[in-house]
Amino acid sequence: MRVTMVGTGYVGLVSGACFADFGHTVTCVDRDAGKIAALLAGRMPIYEPGLDALVATNVTQGRLAFTTDLAAAVAEAEAVFIAVGTPSRRGDGFADLSFVFAAAREIAAALTGDTVVVTKSTVPVGTGDEVERIIRDVNPRVRVDVASNPEFLREGAAIEDFKRPDRIVIGVEGTRAEALMREVYRPLYLNQAPILVTSRRTAELTKYAANAFLATKITFINEIADLCEQVGADVQQVARGIGLDNRIGSKFLHAGPGYGGSCFPKDTLALVKTAQDAGTPVRLVETVVAVNDQRKRAMARKVIQACGGTVRGKRIAVLGLTFKPNTDDMRDAPALSIITGLQDAGAAVVAYDPEGMEQARPLLDGVSYASDAYACAEGADALVIVTEWNAFRALDLARLGRIMAARVLIDLRNVYRPEEVARYGFAYASVGRPAASPAG
Ligand code: UDX
Repeated sequence: MRVTMVGTGYVGLVSGACFADFGHTVTCVDRDAGKIAALLAGRMPIYEPGLDALVATNVTQGRLAFTTDLAAAVAEAEAVFIAVGTPSRRGDGFADLSFVFAAAREIAAALTGDTVVVTKSTVPVGTGDEVERIIRDVNPRVRVDVASNPEFLREGAAIEDFKRPDRIVIGVEGTRAEALMREVYRPLYLNQAPILVTSRRTAELTKYAANAFLATKITFINEIADLCEQVGADVQQVARGIGLDNRIGSKFLHAGPGYGGSCFPKDTLALVKTAQDAGTPVRLVETVVAVNDQRKRAMARKVIQACGGTVRGKRIAVLGLTFKPNTDDMRDAPALSIITGLQDAGAAVVAYDPEGMEQARPLLDGVSYASDAYACAEGADALVIVTEWNAFRALDLARLGRIMAARVLIDLRNVYRPEEVARYGFAYASVGRPAASPAG
């Protein structure tokens, strides 16, 4: 099949490369000429494990192309995917659909024959209706179906998630679009991924409901973690104890500094707005949003407390800046609020992240950056693990103890065991587990 992907961000680029790998002929379009030039030269605009190799193979084998020429790419496609950004709109938090509608207008003008236009971007309920209206307005002669096909991939595991999804959701308003979409995903039949065919509005809402549910699950265990700290219980054992119940499930029960990233914060907010507009507020999700926002700031207070109540004039080393490991994405990363909170309290912050420092620089003032974890910890009064990169899972604690000015470790991802850290003479604070004092 001939597939065109409009937008080469996370979702567009990964989906385009994976569709090509399925055997389809894919053209990825972006109006950012610099991005397309870089992709043509084999440079990826994002850090995602395995993506460069997947792109290179499919380009070499002639199934994947990159261009800024939307009209040409759309004219010859059987399916055109819209995978442009839908950021939160400043002011009201509703999803900003201007990129989606602009893409729809451009696509409409370029359509020449029967085509299915598919929104893959996460879009509020009813966006497909509007896209359809725009296309019919601009180009009434062509026969077009508009489908919704939300993407559930996680950053850092994007290729694996795309190729082995738990399910594929397709929202259509007719059998022609359904048949075409089944054809697009036919290579996944081998993996027996269930395909759920629904109405377009149902598909759009399914994506928001999934993300809101997962955000709720994380926020729930985070609040239980706070309670654990107060009553002397261990949140990891509680999570295991509840997670083994099949009705609950063990995933997304890892307590931490609050969720971040390009999806959960924006999508929960957009769902809240949609529901308010519809006159049926989702109060549970409203609370999740508020609790998670407060949590990120509260993490700075947790660090301050572990430092004996003040960080003024102290040097605080931060390990991990990105919102999670294996990405260079800094969007809504908890590290941003935590570092700002520490600086506001008078600390000097030095940070290290394996991939995220370049993205972090424009977002943070006054932070110095180290070349590795030990350079970061050198002379520090406390070390804070904010993101659980593998490189931070087996730090040489004896060495850290020697090079730091004080042995204080705040582990916001529960990477270490309290007894283990205490053996090296560290005061240790983590999330939802009993605090440990240095052995001795
Ligand atoms: C998420 C969804 O998983 C994906 O299905 C959707 O399509 C897009 O949003 P992503 O943002 O890439 O994917 O990251 P994810 O791995 O889900 O993590 C989101 C945030 O939640 C991170 O900040 C992570 O650290 C946090 N998290 C996740 C926890 O704090 N605890 C957990 O148990 C799981």
